[in-house]
Parts: sequence; structure tokens; C-alpha cells
Amino acid sequence: MTTVDPAPPPPMRLRELVFGAACAAAVRAAARLGVADALEETPMSVDDLAAAVKAQPRTLRRLLRALSCQGVFMEHPDGTFAHTEMSRLLREDDPNSLRYIALWCTEPWTWNVWPKLDEAVRSGRNVFEDVYDREFFEYLNTEAPESAYVFNRAMTTSSEQSARDVANLLDLRNVSSVADIGGGQGQVVASLLEKHPKMHGTLLDLPGVVENADPRLRSGGSLADRVRIVAGDCREDIPVQADVYIIKNILEWDDESTRRALANVRKAARPGARVVVIENLVDDTPSMKFTTSMDLLLLLNVGGAKHTQKSMVERLTDAGLVIGEIRPVNAYLHAFECTIPS
Ligand SMILES: C[S@@+](CC[C@H](N)C(=O)[O-])C[C@H]1O[C@@H](n2cnc3c(N)ncnc32)[C@H](O)[C@@H]1O
Repeated sequence: MTTVDPAPPPPMRLRELVFGAACAAAVRAAARLGVADALEETPMSVDDLAAAVKAQPRTLRRLLRALSCQGVFMEHPDGTFAHTEMSRLLREDDPNSLRYIALWCTEPWTWNVWPKLDEAVRSGRNVFEDVYDREFFEYLNTEAPESAYVFNRAMTTSSEQSARDVANLLDLRNVSSVADIGGGQGQVVASLLEKHPKMHGTLLDLPGVVENADPRLRSGGSLADRVRIVAGDCREDIPVQADVYIIKNILEWDDESTRRALANVRKAARPGARVVVIENLVDDTPSMKFTTSMDLLLLLNVGGAKHTQKSMVERLTDAGLVIGEIRPVNAYLHAFECTIPS
């Protein structure tokens, strides 16, 4: 039977750390095989599971053994496997599913850029463009449709989970229009419009992303008559007038892109308009290992970073925004309430 060692001694811990790729690959393999979806609420034998996911029992057992050591699935003394809290999160139908986040963090391109982390640390810039010869989002939307799909599903999952928190946080009384810049497939806009039935909204994101916008926002959808969908690049132009602009999990790319996007918001917005920037802060998170790892991945793919409160404030101030309250949205996200000066 496989058990989890909660606190191994340092030499063992370091050996385990350098095999982090094996852990990530095992989680990815289980997600792609659909093992968590196939495993029912009662423990199952490896043979039954292997038949359900069309794999070899002997190799599936080895995969499950490795994952059980990490607390993803658990093995019973009779050799059957059962769900744990973590393995349930790999199910597609779990209300808090992390299936697409797990796939996103382990997409094929990630395995090509991690070995160049030392180069990125030395140069201070992304390595993605050296490896793939084009910008990350351009690659994603033109060359890697499967990865783009996984990315958009991952963003949608995390947006669905945070959109309600954003809608609860923002005081939108007397606000008639809201715009989400880089709003992905539009979960935040949709939540806000559902909560405020008189409000209008705009979703701006790259063309390949908005063409798969949330069905509520698309033609025939329940919110379609109150929404405008703009396909564009916010570093080039933000042709949108709104009372409130939301910029959530966007300003974590390179500084020049942040500077251009914020300058375009300033150009588009009238004096007094609100700009709400929402980010995970690397210096204020209950999930330091995840956030610092994501920070490194952002360095590799877009030359970006997860911000500290100070580095975010500096960029917003440089853009000429007047910063008001900085508040937690939930355990992971912070909102910076800003206004466009007169
Ligand atoms: C990390 S996701 C965040 C999505 C959404 N705001 C959320 O919080 O779920 C980054 C988003 O920025 C979009 N994006 C990237 N480059 C962009 C650009 N130049 N102009 C507009 N959107 C862009 C991506 O397509 C993606 O939807």
C-alpha cells in the first residue's frame, strides 16, 4: 500500500524536489487519461480503472502509486484505489475542478521553456520567443489550438470561481457601463451584468479568444443585448468608453506591454472613470509555492512577473492613475481601485 510521508529529511526532500517534473507529468497524465473521472465514489481495482481509461493495468498501477505518494488518489490495503480531496479536483464535473489548470500548467510548451530558466534569470527576459520565434499569445492563438483551448478553459474555470467574488466586491451603484479589458471569455462581465440588470458591458480580448465568448454574451444569449464584444489588442488601442474598466490578471506580462495597455486605458477613459486592477500578489498570498512558480513561468513565456503590492502601485502611478483603496477580493486576489484624474 502507498502512504504519504509528511516531512521527509532534507536529502530526501531535495531528491524529491528535483523530480518535480515527474509529479507534474503524473498529474497531467492522470488528467489526460481521465482517471479521476472514471473513478467512482467506491474504491476500484486497477483492472477496472484501466479498462475504463483504456490503459495497461500494470502501467496505470505505477502511475497511481506515484500519485498516491503525493496524496492524489489513495491506495487501500486490498490494492484498490480511491479518491482523495485532491484527486476529486481533477474531475471535469467537480464544482471546484482544477482539471484545466492542471493541464494548462503542464502544456507541452512549458516543457520546452523550463530548461532555459537559467538563461531567463541571466538575461531578465522571456525565452519563449527564442524557442518558438513568436510572441506567446500569438503562438497560442495561431499555432497551438489545443493549448489555446486548454488555456481558455483554465482561465474560464478560475474566472467562474472568482467572478462571483469580484461581483460581490465591487460597488457598482450608479454605474451604467463596465468594460473588462483582456476579459477572456467574459465570465466576469457576465456575472456583473447578471447582478446589475440595467448595466451595459464590453468585453475586449484577442480575436481568437472572444470568438468563443461565454454563450450568455453571444448573439441569442441572455445578456447579448447589453454587451459589446470587441476583438482587439489592448496594447494597440482600447476603443471603449465605460464608467468602470476592469483589468484582471493581465498586467503580469512585460513592463512595456503594461505601460502601453494602461496608457490606452487612460486615453480611452474620461476623467473620473474608475479603473479596477485585480491581481494575485506574490507578497500576499496563502499559496506561495504556486504563485512563485507561476511567477517564474510568466518570466519564461511573456517576460512578465507576479507583482508585489509595491511593484503594482508603481506601475499604476507611472501610468498616471490615482490609486484609492487596495482590498482583497478573496484569499488569492487583490483589487486596486483607481480613478482617471481630471
Ligand atoms: C491570464 S488571462 C486573464 C483573463 C481574465 N481577465 C481572467 O481574469 O480570467 C490573460 C488574458 O489576456 C488576454 N490577452 C493577452 N494579450 C492580450 C492583448 N494584447 N490584448 C487583449 N487581451 C490580451 C488573453 O487572451 C487572456 O484572456
